[in-house]
Amino acid sequence: MEKELETLISMPFQELMSYYRCAMMEVETKFRVLSEDFSVRYERNPIQSVRPRLKTPESIINKLKRYGWELSTESIEKNLNDVAGVRVICSYQTDVYDLAEALLKQDDVQLIRKKDYIAAPKPNGYRSLHLIVAVPIFLQNKKKMMRVEIQIRTLAMDWWASLEHDMKYKKDVMISEQISKELHECAELSDAIDRRMEYLNRQCEKR
Ligand code: GTP
Ligand code: MG
Repeated sequence: MEKELETLISMPFQELMSYYRCAMMEVETKFRVLSEDFSVRYERNPIQSVRPRLKTPESIINKLKRYGWELSTESIEKNLNDVAGVRVICSYQTDVYDLAEALLKQDDVQLIRKKDYIAAPKPNGYRSLHLIVAVPIFLQNKKKMMRVEIQIRTLAMDWWASLEHDMKYKKDVMISEQISKELHECAELSDAIDRRMEYLNRQCEKR
């Protein structure tokens, strides 16, 4: 416990968190700029919302412990990819890929890892495109590359993931096999609606 507190109130920790906040702002701005550009070009805004979030100190410590990693600022920076996170909610599945492509084309964005849970959904039905990127932040005397976890998904995917998350983390409730099966079915249904809405939108755009 003492070691945890020591780490959390230390200057290096506060500094590191502030670097992550800066990186998060950079990525958020990049999506806001893309959103502006897309809306002028296509007369439609593909981004419904951009939501940054910083992992709480408590959840940073829990994750380090869970993986048996050292409790230090060096270890946080080395081992964790998701201290800074940005979630981007889009209208359609094609928007997810268009936005990811537009972001990754930028010459100051470095792709560390990509997980496409839309092409290959998780066994429980979870869908989303996950990118771990590194972006530079420019401080008074130095430039530093910081990692940010980006989740890009449609409104329907987000709706499913939020509700599933709430159910999963409800205290004292074990999700039964039956509920898991139905949740998976709901994910498939919501994917079908996603595709259908996208098809309808394409028909409208053709007219
Ligand atoms: P973590 O150690 O949890 O960060 O997992 P990971 O490093 O294997 O990364 P992954 O890309 O699989 O998941 C990262 C994040 O995606 C999670 O922290 C959640 O926010 C989200 N996520 C992944 N799987 C699920 C899921 O089954 N349901 C929901 N609701 N969210 C999920
Ligand atoms: Mg995580």
